[in-house]
Amino acid sequence: MKKILITRKLIKDSEDKATKIFEAKLNSNDELYSRAKVIEMSQGCEAVLTSLTDKMDEEMINKLPNTIKVISNFAVGFGNIDLEAAKKKGIAVTNTPEVLSDATAEIGILLILGACRRVSEGIQSAKESNWKWSADYLIGKQLTGTRLGILGMGRIGQKIAAIAKSLGMIIHYHNRSKLSVEKEQGAIYHDSLRSLFEVSDVLSICCPATKETENLINKETLEYFPTGAVITNVARGDIVDDVALIDALNKKKIFAAGLDVYKGEPNLNPGYLKIKSVFILPHLGSATKHTRIAMANLAIDNIYEFFKTGNCKNKVN
Ligand code: GLV
Repeated sequence: MKKILITRKLIKDSEDKATKIFEAKLNSNDELYSRAKVIEMSQGCEAVLTSLTDKMDEEMINKLPNTIKVISNFAVGFGNIDLEAAKKKGIAVTNTPEVLSDATAEIGILLILGACRRVSEGIQSAKESNWKWSADYLIGKQLTGTRLGILGMGRIGQKIAAIAKSLGMIIHYHNRSKLSVEKEQGAIYHDSLRSLFEVSDVLSICCPATKETENLINKETLEYFPTGAVITNVARGDIVDDVALIDALNKKKIFAAGLDVYKGEPNLNPGYLKIKSVFILPHLGSATKHTRIAMANLAIDNIYEFFKTGNCKNKVN
């Protein structure tokens, strides 16, 4: 049996599956392992099943024992792993696409609704019982007839587009390449970011975090949006320059933001906490039992497939 290290506690069904197939080192207390501990624990192992909380940068990868042949990330995003460094060391990196698209799109829609309809302020007022109904009380932005820009029209973006369309939103998108007419489902393609942002009353960020997308939402690009636009992010915090977004919110250039992901999670920029129109969640995108089991099982299957065939369809480097 191959020895593997699983750095975080998984739902029991998945741990049972892992221990049937592998000699798996589990993390029963879900301790947040230090970098040194991951290196120490991975001695003698042939694969590491990582989570997005594990920063597998070049230094870390170079310190892994030479026996490690696979890093299987328990996430669709792999911005926490230096793919090139892994490739140089002969380590395959895999991810868990598709199985989390539905759950993540649900949170993407929640962010749009929460930010547009001033849900944070509403919850606060309801809890304090200090609100007085009036015709103009907590007026938000209605989704029906509003233009939704989707940045990154992969599986999650397409799912958000389909739900938003059913709510009456008009869908625009930017993607590395234009989708087929069948996949577009009537969405309007923009070949530049600027052109997308100029028509985005609401933006949903769904693209991966890469060197190219880092701080894509910044002081300059925020100026492209219509005044009073809403920015939502269900992808990764690294895509947003927080200081620029907080400034645009304070200046009311941006009406509201809906965020599930942050730079330096779990420590989000405290500036967001001072702004009432910000609707924030603690990285819940894929957080349903069904989805987390499916993701973990896929992460385990990815390791199995790699050792059985020498390759894996979810290899990303
Ligand atoms: C969750 O954020 C993921 O990338 O799977």
